[in-house]
Amino acid sequence: MKKTVLLGVTGCVAAYKACEVVRGLQKAGLRVKVVMTKNATEFINPGQFRALTREPVAVGTFDDAPGDPIHHISLSKEADVVLIAPCTANVLGKIANGIADDLLTTTAMATTAPIVLAPAMNVNMYENEATQHNLMILAERGVRIVDADSGYLACGDVGKGRLAEPADIVKTVLDVLEVKRDMRGKRVVVTAGPTVEPIDAVRYISNPSSGKMGFALAEAAADRGADVVLVTGPVGLDDPEDVEVVRVKTAQEMFNAVDGVFADSDIAVFSAAVSDFRPEQVVDRKLKKGSDDDALTTIKLVENPDILATMGEKKHADQYVIGFAAETENVVENARKKLETKHADMIVGNPVGESKGFGADDNEAVLVTKDGESHLESMSKRALADRIFDAVLS
Ligand SMILES: Cc1cc2nc3c(=O)[nH]c(=O)nc-3n(C[C@H](O)[C@H](O)[C@H](O)COP(=O)(O)O)c2cc1C
Repeated sequence: MKKTVLLGVTGCVAAYKACEVVRGLQKAGLRVKVVMTKNATEFINPGQFRALTREPVAVGTFDDAPGDPIHHISLSKEADVVLIAPCTANVLGKIANGIADDLLTTTAMATTAPIVLAPAMNVNMYENEATQHNLMILAERGVRIVDADSGYLACGDVGKGRLAEPADIVKTVLDVLEVKRDMRGKRVVVTAGPTVEPIDAVRYISNPSSGKMGFALAEAAADRGADVVLVTGPVGLDDPEDVEVVRVKTAQEMFNAVDGVFADSDIAVFSAAVSDFRPEQVVDRKLKKGSDDDALTTIKLVENPDILATMGEKKHADQYVIGFAAETENVVENARKKLETKHADMIVGNPVGESKGFGADDNEAVLVTKDGESHLESMSKRALADRIFDAVLS
């Protein structure tokens, strides 16, 4: 899920620059919701932010927010970080002194999320002892200040007080949220879920893979800035945001879809539970109980293409290929064997059975590479996805 930045916009000439901040935060994969002071609406129309964020823009504490009678509390809880940019001397002073007399300052008072302020004002306002004292109080309290720049100011004065560059404001927010963007420019292919191999018009061979691991991998890579193609078998999961999703059914369809995108990828993660075999013949009607149809008693199986082994063989030196080995026993041994036979760079071995693996929200794993193995304790599939990419990047 995307993290939410609650962006407060206040009554400054630089209010229009908040649009660039919104775009920068969105590009970094964050959701942005805007709260404006009433005076900020003298400088920029809320409609501008509504259009950019595709979210309602809140202004008044007592304005009607449908289904949400205590708006400042829900906003304060929704925020992973509260950013006020640009921040007037007035709002700075109010927050430093515990004043909550409008929606923005009341929300800032109510939130337990970190607060980031980017002041912008005339040089004399900035240098005023009250402002300097307020900045000091806020910094001591752990509020992150993106300090104003020096230069030519809108009022004609020259000095300190110009809003920091939007890119620096975005960077501070990413630091505070500990958002990694270390996969920007990387193209990642992920496979997920089971495949289904039809027997007749209504029956198939499959397995209970939920797709959660592959979806977590795709989401993690996208959050970290990668361009991601997710090829998935039939699962009941929604498309992750900012990921190109290709939905397939059979192993052959998954093979074809992967084959079409693998050559252009930097990292390929094969976490799908692909059926090794498929019925040689697919009966195009429903097999009926009691009939003397041969297909009823004998299903002849043929091997499906091995996606991991084929891509492992095709891969060029700059590509990194990761396979998964779900094992009920001898996890490391089997993973190491798979690493060699499939020409993979890493095998994520994970014990399956009982409550582990398929369908569970947590996963326990051992990352096996030619250099050794690293055992990871049980953690959420999303956390494991991040640990896998950390290991790849290192
Ligand atoms: C044209 C104009 C530009 C202003 N620019 C700023 C500014 O950049 N920074 C600031 O602190 N106040 C600025 N002010 C003063 C604030 O708008 C004023 O203090 C207001 O009460 C702030 O309201 P707010 O903090 O609730 O948004 C400006 C006022 C005007 C008329």
